[in-house]
Amino acid sequence: MRKIILFFPAIAWLMAGAQTTLTERYPLIPWPSSLAAKSGDVVIDRHTHIVMEAGAGTFSYERSFLEGQLRRFLGPEASGKTKMTGTAIILKDDNTLTSPEAYRLTISGKTIVLAAHFPAGMFYAMQTLRQLMPPAIENGHGNRLHVPCVEIADQPAFPWRGMMLDVSRHFFSTAYLRKFIDMMALYKFNKLHLHLTDDQGWRIEIKKYPRLTSESGWRTLNDQDSACIKLAKQTDNPDFNLDPAHIRHIDGKTEYGGFYTQEEMKAIIRYAAARHIEIIPEIDMPGHMMAAILLYPELTCEGKKGDDWRHGFTTPICPCKESTLQFAKDIFTEIANLFPSKYIHIGGDEVGKTEWQKSPLCQQFMKDHHFTNTDQLQTWFNNYMEDFFHSIGKTLLGWDEIVEGGIDSAAAVMFWRTWAKKAPLKTTRNGNKLIMTPDGPFYFDAWPDRHSLSAVYHYNPLDPAYGMNANEEKNIIGVQANLWSERIPTEARADYLVMPRMTALAELGWTHKDLYDSYLQRLERQYDRLDRLNVHYRLPDLPELSERRVFIDTAMFFTHPPNPGLTIRYADNGFPTTASPVLDHPLRIDHSRELRLAAFTTAGRRGDVQTISFEHQNYAPALKVTGLARGVEVGVFRGEFDSTTAMHGHPDSSMLLSNVALPTNHPDAYGLQYRGYIEVPATGIYSFFLTSDDGSMLRIADRLVVANDGAHSSREKSGQIALRQGLHPLALDYIDLGGGGELQLSYSKDNEKPQPVPASWFFSAGSGEATGAAKQVRAHG
Ligand code: ACM
Repeated sequence: MRKIILFFPAIAWLMAGAQTTLTERYPLIPWPSSLAAKSGDVVIDRHTHIVMEAGAGTFSYERSFLEGQLRRFLGPEASGKTKMTGTAIILKDDNTLTSPEAYRLTISGKTIVLAAHFPAGMFYAMQTLRQLMPPAIENGHGNRLHVPCVEIADQPAFPWRGMMLDVSRHFFSTAYLRKFIDMMALYKFNKLHLHLTDDQGWRIEIKKYPRLTSESGWRTLNDQDSACIKLAKQTDNPDFNLDPAHIRHIDGKTEYGGFYTQEEMKAIIRYAAARHIEIIPEIDMPGHMMAAILLYPELTCEGKKGDDWRHGFTTPICPCKESTLQFAKDIFTEIANLFPSKYIHIGGDEVGKTEWQKSPLCQQFMKDHHFTNTDQLQTWFNNYMEDFFHSIGKTLLGWDEIVEGGIDSAAAVMFWRTWAKKAPLKTTRNGNKLIMTPDGPFYFDAWPDRHSLSAVYHYNPLDPAYGMNANEEKNIIGVQANLWSERIPTEARADYLVMPRMTALAELGWTHKDLYDSYLQRLERQYDRLDRLNVHYRLPDLPELSERRVFIDTAMFFTHPPNPGLTIRYADNGFPTTASPVLDHPLRIDHSRELRLAAFTTAGRRGDVQTISFEHQNYAPALKVTGLARGVEVGVFRGEFDSTTAMHGHPDSSMLLSNVALPTNHPDAYGLQYRGYIEVPATGIYSFFLTSDDGSMLRIADRLVVANDGAHSSREKSGQIALRQGLHPLALDYIDLGGGGELQLSYSKDNEKPQPVPASWFFSAGSGEATGAAKQVRAHG
């Protein structure tokens, strides 16, 4: 194929598999809004010169960015006349490109033309050119760089393409902020939201209140730290150990922490701005304020240090005290002077308002303002602060709770509560700008699995389910992922959680077209680049395997690495290491055992560990049952169950469903017990794949097949069972704690492609007469 591409590229693209050819030749993420493939390459070498066309003077930083990159790889530019014989890279001001981030990139003949009217567009043209250069440009040296000819006209779908980093729960160095910004720039993100304060630490210097950082920037190790240390042991993963760079020993105590001085932050802001990334500061209030309240208890209504935050949300500051409002204004005055962004994030999430309810001061305040509930108090606080922000030239931004009691339409909102389904419409209908950051797909602190890339990529910020009209949709200005750092004590762990998910989000925010298969192919070609940039990304998944496998006599087990650069190693005891045997031939399985497998890079980095248990089984004999009805009986239990085993006694109601599916009408939080029979058409070893949000457990023939229990987001687990042809008892339990439910059951036999279990396989003892008539008899196996 490669040779054909070189000589007959236009023909090659017309052939079947054209998409592969395109993605190999142009492995761009995000994919441009328009790309016309062209044959041939252009060579960049020491004779290549950068030309600024008249009017392109505003691109001097962008020019130096490109120049720096080329010089690092190629060495000094050739001198004298010879350079005029080389390729010209032309930077051009094109005033027809009126959108601030738009650009054109034309690579043909002996020229590379980058055109934009605004510096951001020029910067993005350069990021595209960078991704068309070989990955070696990132850290290598050489004499020439080949770039494929192409004609690209590009601009983003959404103006807000953000990442949020929580630096409070665990702290990140300024060096890491720079690395993070670099990762963002490569994929055309433009907003870095820093969650600078929370209950667990205050991370930005405030000159008027220096103790906020000198004292509340540090803590003795807390429960989040101990949870991380425990995870490091449980998962054999050093990325969960606290970063020693953020630990100090002082007065005989071990403390964790760190903070940014205003000078350090100014340098970060400049670094980001040069890469067309705006930093949005968040000072979370009135809740999530323990770091300040511990020093200044008078900020609360009662003047006390507040509740133990583990028992719900922490005590908020008191909006009914003039001194508290002054404190907030002092803080935001310094923040507004420091950060040039239009938006300042006030947080506003998860405010526990019982203390406001109890406070005589707030009761009086509410009476004076004719408020009937404490949500209106938060609204009053937000509107007061929004007025103040306005007076200092800023716009308030907050989490979606700020719309609950109403909010001034000038404020902007981040939607995160996936379960608050009406919040997006309420926000946009009120005229507020809205950024989509849904918990679930865009909470990158959630542990990734083989489904997470697709979940990010396929989230639709303009989902018709939000019920907006076209005008309301216009208020959706973009997308953002959030990285909450309770369980992220190291930079390596942060890298692992964001990458490669960030690339899926980049394409959603910039391209917003469904090119998923092509995206996956292009992603494969990003890994070499990310390795060279020292990004500790999550390695590609091992091929999909049942975690619980059964065999009758013996079985052979083998699987290929997810890509040729990786090696799979396995261990019978403990976790695989670089010293463990390589899975390079099929393993004979003749006794029940557990294997742990993982992919390894040539540098020895380990991917996610997958545990597979092999269990010796005999075929479960089929039953002879008469008087059965089609469908499966489902018992519904009302209530919040955090495990399927928490459902006891008789269900509150029951119904007959034709298949394993969720009932259309159900309580907010509930549990289900599916009871009946499953009839398999042939004797064999069956794999079952059970996806659920929250937990589920599948038993067939009184054997546990899939264990997917507990409170969790959408997750697939699988298992196998050996079944004789015919009927077997089925018991499937499911729980939903609210916040979105899902239940899907697929099967495969003899390693065929999984497919949904058909309705024709399900039987129930029926109800009324049918129940009495059903008889269960052991059949001969
Ligand atoms: C949030 O996750 N509390 C915004």
